[in-house]
Formats: sequence, C-alpha cells, structure tokens
Amino acid sequence: PVLVVDFGAQYAQLIARRVREAGVYSELVPHTITAAEVEAKRPLGIVLSGGPSSVYAEGAPQFDERVFELGIPVLGICYGFQVMARALGGRVGHTGDREYGATEAQVLSGGGAILGGQPETQQVWMSHGDAVQEAPEGFEVLARTAVTPVAAFGSPEKRMYGVQWHPEVRHSDYGQRILESFLHHVADITPDWNPGNVIAEQVARIREQVGGARVISALSGGVDSAVSTALVHEAIGDQLTAVFVDHGLLRKGEREQVERDYVASTGVHLITVDAADTFLGHLAGVTDPEEKRKIIGREFIRAFEQVQRDLVAEAKAEGEQVKFLVQGTLYPDVVESGGGAGTANIKSHHNVGGLPDDLDFELIEPLRALFKDEVRAIGRELGIPEAIVGRQPFPGPGLGIRIVGEVTRERLEVLREADAIAREELTLAGLDAEIWQCPVVLLADVRSVGVQGDGRTYGHPIVLRPVSSEDAMTADWTRVPYEVLARISNRITNQVPEVNRVVLDVTSKPPGTIEWE
Ligand code: XMP
Repeated sequence: PVLVVDFGAQYAQLIARRVREAGVYSELVPHTITAAEVEAKRPLGIVLSGGPSSVYAEGAPQFDERVFELGIPVLGICYGFQVMARALGGRVGHTGDREYGATEAQVLSGGGAILGGQPETQQVWMSHGDAVQEAPEGFEVLARTAVTPVAAFGSPEKRMYGVQWHPEVRHSDYGQRILESFLHHVADITPDWNPGNVIAEQVARIREQVGGARVISALSGGVDSAVSTALVHEAIGDQLTAVFVDHGLLRKGEREQVERDYVASTGVHLITVDAADTFLGHLAGVTDPEEKRKIIGREFIRAFEQVQRDLVAEAKAEGEQVKFLVQGTLYPDVVESGGGAGTANIKSHHNVGGLPDDLDFELIEPLRALFKDEVRAIGRELGIPEAIVGRQPFPGPGLGIRIVGEVTRERLEVLREADAIAREELTLAGLDAEIWQCPVVLLADVRSVGVQGDGRTYGHPIVLRPVSSEDAMTADWTRVPYEVLARISNRITNQVPEVNRVVLDVTSKPPGTIEWE
C-alpha cells in the first residue's frame, strides 16, 4: 500500500481517497507509527498529511524521523511538508505571514518530477502559518508564492518531495496531477486499484472464509448493505440468504426497488419480513423521538432474530450450518486516526439498525477497506441499479423519525407522497450530486389555515431539509434554486390534500441536526 500519515487534519481521509482515485491502494496510519511499523507494512510510498498546528507549537504531532531513512518515496503535504523539511535539515520559520485559501504559486526550476510539464503559475489551496524558509541540503526548490519562498521542494535521488499547499482539494488546479506524478513516476507504482480487482480479490477471500457454510445478510435498501450483500452473493451464490425487514417506515417504492430491481440485477435469494403491523403497533401513541428510535431498533432486532432462528432450524434440518453474517462496514467506520492520542481505534459499528453484539455469528465485512464512493463504483460494476447505488443516506428508523408527533399509517402515507414528489423534482433538477440528502418532514401536530379553490383548509406543514455535507458531521443547508422549490411546493400542496404549506429549513449543522428527530 501507500501509507497516508494522519497528523490530525481533516484532510487525511481525503488524501487517502485521492490516492485511490489515482489507482493506488492507500491506508491511513496515525502519526505515532514507528519506523519499524512502517517497514513492516512494506509501503510503496508514504504521504504525510497536513495538520492543524505549527511544527513549533506545544504538543505538535510528532513523527518518527527514522522513517525518512528507510529509502521509501515520501510526499509531504502542508504540515507534513514542514515536518519533512525540519527532519531533513531545512529551516521552518514562524513568520507570522499566514496564507489561507486560493493562492498563486510560481513553479521554479522546471518543477521537477511533481510539477514538471504544468503551467508556471497555478492556483493552489493554502492553509498555513509557518513557512519553510530553506530547503534541506540536496533538495531543489520547485515553487514559491508571494509570501512563501519555499512552497515546494524535491530530491530525485532521495525520491522525496513536498508541497506547502493541499493538492488533495479541488481548488488546487493541478493537485491530482501532483499526486499522480508522485505515485506513478516518483514511487513508480502501477495503478491497478480498481473496482474489478477489488471484487476479484474479495470474492476469493470470501470463498475461503466461508467454505460450504450458509450465510445471512440484513438488507436495509441502503448502499452499503446492498453492495456487501451482492459481493458475497457473487462469491457464494445461493449459500447466501438476504433478509429485508419492511418496518412500514420506508419511502415510496423502496420495497419494490429491493424486491424487484435489486433481486433481478443480482440474483440474490431474498426473504422479506412483513413487519409493518408489529412496528406500527408498538409505535402507537409514542411521540418522544428517543423512544421511537429505541422501539424501532428493538423491533428490528426481533424481526431479524426470528428469521435467523428459522433459517438456522431449516439449515440444521438439512445438515448445514449458518455461521456467517454479512455487514456493510466501511473504512471510515473502522479507522479513527489522528487526534490527541494519535492511535487508530476501532469502533464497533453496526450498519443495519444496530444489530446486537451477541449475535452468534462470524462477520463477513467485504467493504472494510473501502470508502463510500468506491463502494458505489463496485456496486455499479456488480450491476446494481443506479437508483440503489446512487442513493443518498436514509436513516435506519426511516420515516418514523420524520413525522414529528405520533407515527400512524395515515401520516406515513401523507409523508410518503410528499417525499416522493420532492425527491423526483430534485433529481429532475439535476441536484442529486450537490445535495447530500433531503429529509422531508411532516409536522403532524401542527396545523395552519389556508385557502384552496374557494374553501378554507386546515392542513399540516411539510418541511424540506436539503443539506450539503462531506460526512454528515457538519452540514449546510443547500441553496436550492427558487424555481425548483416552487415546483416542489406547488406539486405537494396540489397533490397531497392533507398538506397546505411547504416550508424550507435554513439551519446549518450545528446547531441543527440533519434529521428533525
Ligand atoms: P443527524 O440528524 O444526527 O444525522 O445530523 C446524521 C446522519 O445520520 C443519519 N441518521 C441515521 N442513520 N440510523 C442510521 O442509519 C439512524 O438511527 C440515524 N439517525 C440519523 C442521518 O440521515 C444523517 O445522514
């Protein structure tokens, strides 16, 4: 692999993704990694990420400088660039001249292996206080800016390069080319990380792990469980049974999408549990958001365990074993690097509605090394319909936490119609890529007066909550064009009789969460 050393900046994950986009498998490691640990991983290259602080600041993230003696190609970025400069004998100055945002960089000396062949002036994205004043001995200065005399340097002999700016962000004009030049030419890595290879590798691994045993998988209709299930099916065919719990809180057309389109495209053997009555029964009279969540989570587990017992009994009758459970755990769920302690720690993460820890299964997690966009690419390669692969996040408790107030069948029907209209219009307007997700919320206990035709109405408001986000930790409300909002509002108030008002949520996260409950 290529190791991306995380100095605690929010950019490390992004770098790891960009490296993979360049066709090279990357792993995130904390900055506390030792030279011996690095060596044991036999990396083909190392990228040092940016960090939040000055190399001179108290508690600045440290790095084992012996790594620079291993003969492995290194690319330093921002803070990583300064760590490298200092370790190799250059000078980093605390000038007080800050550079932040889009900046013009001047390429010097032809640009060397990482900037060669690119325009002599280019826009780069900067974010730093300290600056490298002198390159280490034997390194050539490859770029400067108005305030930073050494904005990039490199040594072909050592195969070490660095840039002060952030090549991983799109605002740096030739950022991806810098990464690719380093990976493909300096480190001489053949770009062969692609969905096809990942599938082949995982299929072989799953077959080895499972042997002849039977496997079950919980399908939520979301991207991760859909792709992990299809991948396991590709490996072991009908040894796999997928279970889909219809809790009655799904959006319009979702069940059909899974039962019909997903099954048709993957051939997965699917059992649907019809549990809407049970769920709605337990939700009757409940208005507290946390209580709703608890009930939905609990009932989900019950439904799943019931099927599990049935399957185990059936398999036993046939002299087989059900030993494995598929989970759609992704790489960002597994790695949590950097930060204070700087150690990677594993959080146990359950993708589907929070399956309990004491399930007596071995886990199959074929997406553990992947980022979301890679999972989507693999899903497409496996032929899963775009409507499922391209799906925006949808919470496990479904529409149950998008009705403020008691959840009833009638209210669900109202919300389902309104939600379907909003989704359709946003897709038609080409906004799916810009919008992370758009919860549509029914304020079931609020009524307001309206007028329609020549009559008074007394209906409920629908809230549109379109948000833009990188990771759902923070979010901003999406500036959806007025015409699109107007169309959504018109259609909802015309086609859903119970709704007489459509409002827009213009709150960022924080302080608002993305969902209303
Ligand atoms: P909030 O509302 O906390 O949501 O800003 C952040 C992201 O998480 C999703 N979400 C959930 N996903 N089970 C899930 O699988 C849940 O219980 C759940 N609650 C919120 C939400 O849609 C958003 O993407």
